[in-house]
Amino acid sequence: MAVQITRKGDVAIVSIDNPPVNAIGHAVRAGLLEAVETLSADGTLKAVVLTGAGKIFAAGADAREFDTPPESPHLPDVALAIETAPQPWIAAINGAALGGGCELALACRMRIAGTNATIGLPEVTLGVVPGAGGTQRLPRLVGLKSALDIIPQGKVLKADAAKAVGLIDRIADDPVAEAMALVDGGKLGFGARLSERAAVEADATAVLDARSRAAKRMRGQIAPERAIDLLERATQEDFDRGMAQERETFLELRQGEQAKALRHIFFAERGAKKPDSIAAEPVPVDTVVVIGGGTMGAGIAYALERAGYTVTLVETDEGARERAEANVGRLFKDAVKRGLMAQEEADERQARITLVVGYDDLPPAGLAIEAAFESIEVKREIFGKLDEALPKHAILATNTSYLDVNEIAASTSRPERVLGLHFFSPAHIMKLLEIVRADKTSHEALATGFAVGAKLKKIPVLAGVCDGFIGNRILFRYREEADVLMMDGSLPWLIDEAMVEFGMAMGPYEVQDLSGLDISYAQRKRRAPTRDPNRRYIPIADRMVEEGRIGKKASVGWYRYPGGGGAVVDPLLEDLITEEAHFAKVTRREISPDEIRERLTLAMINEAADILNDGIAQKASDIDLVMVHGYGFPRWRGGPMHYADTIGAAAILDKIRAFERDDPVMWRPSPLIVNLAASGGRFANAGQV
Ligand code: 3HC
Repeated sequence: MAVQITRKGDVAIVSIDNPPVNAIGHAVRAGLLEAVETLSADGTLKAVVLTGAGKIFAAGADAREFDTPPESPHLPDVALAIETAPQPWIAAINGAALGGGCELALACRMRIAGTNATIGLPEVTLGVVPGAGGTQRLPRLVGLKSALDIIPQGKVLKADAAKAVGLIDRIADDPVAEAMALVDGGKLGFGARLSERAAVEADATAVLDARSRAAKRMRGQIAPERAIDLLERATQEDFDRGMAQERETFLELRQGEQAKALRHIFFAERGAKKPDSIAAEPVPVDTVVVIGGGTMGAGIAYALERAGYTVTLVETDEGARERAEANVGRLFKDAVKRGLMAQEEADERQARITLVVGYDDLPPAGLAIEAAFESIEVKREIFGKLDEALPKHAILATNTSYLDVNEIAASTSRPERVLGLHFFSPAHIMKLLEIVRADKTSHEALATGFAVGAKLKKIPVLAGVCDGFIGNRILFRYREEADVLMMDGSLPWLIDEAMVEFGMAMGPYEVQDLSGLDISYAQRKRRAPTRDPNRRYIPIADRMVEEGRIGKKASVGWYRYPGGGGAVVDPLLEDLITEEAHFAKVTRREISPDEIRERLTLAMINEAADILNDGIAQKASDIDLVMVHGYGFPRWRGGPMHYADTIGAAAILDKIRAFERDDPVMWRPSPLIVNLAASGGRFANAGQV
């Protein structure tokens, strides 16, 4: 039974019981309505306490049902039945009360939250608006301004913050016991039902503020705007019409492309786990050795320590050891500044990271993660030393972004225990972790990578060995195509603008300025000997680096950064690009923002399809996770593979074939796209699993 009723004297306790998160699916809605009907007929009851079985109150509507037609009873009707029942219903919020869970609590006459409870309306993060009265009841409870702060941003509040805005009435260690005690003591006092309260006071400034905040923070997304419209509607009388409008908007958005894309990513994130095909137990890991204390190594060491590992950080000499100590220290200082820990705790934790010079005194760690300079010689030497210094069972991981993990593994006597663990910078913040399987990597080593990833609360994605693995390989092709557009007629800032308009967090040139043009320069030089001489090569970025325009750190790159500040367009760059086009005998042409977006997204999709086809990625959703979490691809477009399915393989193939006619080397359609176009299949279902 998805809903349980127990009687305690003259109080009934109704528990939502739908593990693992008490999602409100059809059975829960039907069970709740039946409970209202049964209990309403019982004249001896003083009150009903609504709670969740287990550790969660209710995680909201069951998003898995959003792809099927709505089935009655509908949640708004259940909420209204609870609100208008003859006995007062009291929400005892024992854990997360999110979305529809929060809306059920709003329908109750009183809300008591446990100290660890969270409560909020995150619907916009799934591309919808609250659909069971949230937009009409919440402003009537907390006022328009607070509701505008919560709903359009999809905020979830901790109990004390929820109490501060008036979303809950009380906080208690045991909210069910507290509710029972209040009923027993006759201390219940209720205001008018929210559906019966007057319209909320209009506040044009707060609405304008919310709109500009949504445009900035939720750029490109429809749901936040529509939520604001509905909240404005709550300033008019007539609750029922507000509810009707909310329902209509909810159902419309639920079937829209953005909601589908956001659901896809939501479930892909939860599905990012060790694949069943990896049938081995992880090596037990308590202690981790990190090699290299630069920005990346320090971030990894910090994240490991925070996750409970004992960490030893290895540097090459005393000077480097001191720099590593300073890098780690900065992260703890920052954590104190951001209120994540007190100074005392930061000092204790930092002291638990041991910094050493050389490999002589390493602890018997179960795992080593190398985050040293990107040079195959350097890495081979380090892995040789780790192989000697660490126990035979230890797993050795490299954080390389693009070097050959097979070659690194070959410098050890245990290639089956070597893998890539590719973190993204800043390593303690970015959720993505590419787990790279080399030819000889064992299931045990991979299982260890996934176990450590889970403990670090990362989103792990399995990748095979190739230059750049999943993310950097797509990035390379994306940038290559952007450079072609720049040479053929566009300009870096026009390309950036077009891609930001598409929804990318930043344009490709602004990103390069931030990471430094010297990094991709080194990669191009490394690739030079194996580059296809028939492939177009755009030398503009090389010239930039050779002239010292290496990005923000030099105050000049694709943009200028006067006084170290924000990016400013540099008109001189146009001369440089025109000059290079002249040398290359290219007649520059007008390139529209639509063409920029089309070519760049198709370049990413084609490369991603090859990655899937080659078995570098196991499934399309893994590629989507990598691009959304590591490269600023808009979440609300669902990642490049999900986006490709919205266009369709046949249409994609037509377009790529048209580009291929002009440049058959760069635009070779991926065999996967050709197959899917012929079979009418979807990228979502392609891949190895
Ligand atoms: N619908 C369907 N399944 C859900 C779900 C939901 N709303 N929320 C979580 N799940 C599933 C997950 O997919 C996962 O399934 P799996 O075990 O098969 O992979 C399982 O429940 C456990 O989820 P998590 O791994 O996320 O568990 P955590 O303990 O880490 O987190 C949580 C729990 C904080 C509740 C988190 O799951 C969460 O944030 N859920 C989504 C909340 C949300 O967005 N609610 C709004 C829904 S829309 C709505 O309510 C519309 C209404 O206004 C009409």
